[in-house]
Amino acid sequence: MERELILILDFGGQYKQLIARRVRAANVYCEILPHTVPIERIRALAPRGIILTGGPNSVYAPDAPVFDGDLFSLGVPVLGICYGAQLMARMLGGRVEAAATSEYGNAELYLDAPDSVLFQNVPASTVCWMSHRDRIALLPPGFRATAHTNHCPIAAMEDRERGLYALQFHPEVLHTPEGAGMLYRFVREVCGCGGTWIMDSYIEEQIKAIRGQVGDGRVLLGLSGGVDSSVAAALLSRAIGKQLVCVFVDHGLLRKNEAEEVAAVFGEGGGFDLTFRPVDAKERFYRALAGVTDPEQKRKIIGEQFIRVFEAESKALGTVEFLAQGTIYPDVVESGTGSAGAVIKSHHNVGGLPKNLSFSGIVEPLRSLFKDEVRALGRKLGLPPALVDRQPFPGPGLGVRIVGEVTPDKVRIVQEADAIFREELINFGVDTGTGQFFAALTNLRSVGVMGDSRTYDYAVALRAVQTDDFMTATAAHLPYALLDSVTNRIVNEVRGVNRVLYDLTGKPPATIELE
Ligand code: XMP
Repeated sequence: MERELILILDFGGQYKQLIARRVRAANVYCEILPHTVPIERIRALAPRGIILTGGPNSVYAPDAPVFDGDLFSLGVPVLGICYGAQLMARMLGGRVEAAATSEYGNAELYLDAPDSVLFQNVPASTVCWMSHRDRIALLPPGFRATAHTNHCPIAAMEDRERGLYALQFHPEVLHTPEGAGMLYRFVREVCGCGGTWIMDSYIEEQIKAIRGQVGDGRVLLGLSGGVDSSVAAALLSRAIGKQLVCVFVDHGLLRKNEAEEVAAVFGEGGGFDLTFRPVDAKERFYRALAGVTDPEQKRKIIGEQFIRVFEAESKALGTVEFLAQGTIYPDVVESGTGSAGAVIKSHHNVGGLPKNLSFSGIVEPLRSLFKDEVRALGRKLGLPPALVDRQPFPGPGLGVRIVGEVTPDKVRIVQEADAIFREELINFGVDTGTGQFFAALTNLRSVGVMGDSRTYDYAVALRAVQTDDFMTATAAHLPYALLDSVTNRIVNEVRGVNRVLYDLTGKPPATIELE
């Protein structure tokens, strides 16, 4: 079946990924491309519709991003959002001007044309989310205004004949409650997409593509037990069975029972047809980490050791033609923008690309999916919910949850404490929702008394954060009874701990992990 495509042209807006997610939620496939893409390429892609994103510029600024080409002569519907709306107005002979009052945040939107396709079932007045200084002052020929706000006389406009629509506000954000519906109607009704982007068809499509790419070659996948690599493994297994070799490195910094859980799913009897190669590299990592206390150095050592183990495994396997990776769409989009910020932590993902190995190709079957789509795919492929809905777990594992030197005994402490914390969160029914929670080990030792003896033991820190994007976070308000019960259990059940602390710090100023 031919894939219906909506193209999102990026003019520097912050919310391009949100637009894409709303379009995908309407079961329509879409891709984000820079606004510099040549018109010939757009023609070749034959999109059903085009969405122009917002952007920080004024359309009259000398360096304002424009589209070089006659986008509106392609004969496909176009929806301009915010900056994209102004650009459409300007390119088609309307006028944009600086508004007397800029509008940021919620505004009341009044419909002037309730018969607009985009506004079907939208109340005559509703809330929309605005973020603009300029506004459309004069309609381009052929357009009609379809909505206004108190500060913006043309908050929406359209030329139905030509399939051109523009919204000054942001329909993609949750603050515009009717916005998802407007985007839905644009792609499904205006562009006429049938909504064929569903996970079943994605599985079929990918199985064909993977088989076509790898033939009878072997494919090596670094399986970490995280969502992305697990879903990639399940999908590849469907396509090529035993030709898929999954190397699972136990670096000794996994959570309690994690290695066993991964083996139960992907190992013998787990129901997936693949070659599973677990590697016990605990001792090697502990040796390399002995005496090292600096967080960045620890991260580097873990990353390097991981690559070495992976290389050794790969060599032992003989010729393996392809390397598979669990890259997902946000990674692809973000790496295209090349943001330069301060290095807070050198992140690494278990399964990262080893530099010294040569493969004749890379297989990335999740490259066009968002995280929620990856999870949905995982469910379809029969992965257990515990794996598919798993919280993020950093590549360096417990290495960044043990402050200071890593030793096997400290790993035991943090594994036991963490398992108790997770068990109690489940017992108290607060283990769901968006967030991340775990136990970490501080390097604080202090005096305590147990029985009649003095102790001089470690303090465990509990961390539970509420977050949507992991860029910012606030400490979760856990019930006191839960904290009480976890504390009692940890000090009683975990040898070497005589104090339990709850970390109340948000991010910023703290980070989620301790190192
Ligand atoms: P921080 O500690 O930077 O963490 O606030 C933000 C999110 O990223 C995860 N994290 C990592 N993930 N490799 C990863 O794949 C890493 O090296 C790494 N370090 C932190 C962390 O668990 C949180 O979800």
